[in-house]
Amino acid sequence: MGKTQKEKLPIGIFDSGVGGLTVFKEVISLLPTEDIIYLGDTARVPYGTRSPQTVIKYSQEITSFLQRQGIKLLVVACNTSSAVSLPTLQKENTIPVIGVIEPGARWAAEVTQNKKVGVIGTEGTVKSRAYEQTIQMIDHEITVISRACPLLVPLAEEGWLDGEVTRLTAQSYLNPLREEQIDTLVLGCTHYPLLEVTIREIMGDGVYLVNSAKETAKEVQKILDAERLTSPGEKNGSYRFYVTDNVERFIAVGERFLGRTLEAVELVS
Ligand code: DGL
Repeated sequence: MGKTQKEKLPIGIFDSGVGGLTVFKEVISLLPTEDIIYLGDTARVPYGTRSPQTVIKYSQEITSFLQRQGIKLLVVACNTSSAVSLPTLQKENTIPVIGVIEPGARWAAEVTQNKKVGVIGTEGTVKSRAYEQTIQMIDHEITVISRACPLLVPLAEEGWLDGEVTRLTAQSYLNPLREEQIDTLVLGCTHYPLLEVTIREIMGDGVYLVNSAKETAKEVQKILDAERLTSPGEKNGSYRFYVTDNVERFIAVGERFLGRTLEAVELVS
């Protein structure tokens, strides 16, 4: 396919479910003219408690599906999938494949002053040590303290973004990180940007919060520019959403995540 045709193709974004809409939101705000196909694997969510082998297999299946739709670039919005399957997906595909770990890690390494960075994510992301390794590859003097915070995912999906239960839950996860006196905290899970206000309250203003979704959107823009793949269109892009189960729940929770209505959601098997 010639370059001129290629740049008109949509960007593919996938996640284990609805959470990747935080990445989608940042991408459309930075790149409003791009068309996007989003897939949420709602039948097999959560990925955070699954083995790397299973997450890699699911990610390969989704990538093949999105490639069949015709995409010019793939964003792995799921932190757990990015942590374990990115090298495989990059090896197996010729289009650019961007994960959320490296952009977040790079920014964290840049902003930390005391070289103590905290990372919160799913069990799978923390176990993979992907953030830790990437941050220390950039600056080996940085100490990385990681913590899995699994209960924050259902709280975000329920829309419990503040209030007593969420605050106490977040506090019990985050207090050990505060005690370590980190000055930077990576929100290493698709759902955590929704809880940013509560997390900020607990960590205090002295701790810089790194939103991986925002950093990833900047990386997408950079790669599109570098590869001359930026959409030539001037009007707003169009969006298609696929889910593997329960369209209604994806719409209900997704609209809360995005703060806008969701249309064109289709079920795929
Ligand atoms: N999307 C996942 C992530 O960012 C969180 C939900 C899950 O465990 O699948 O790691």
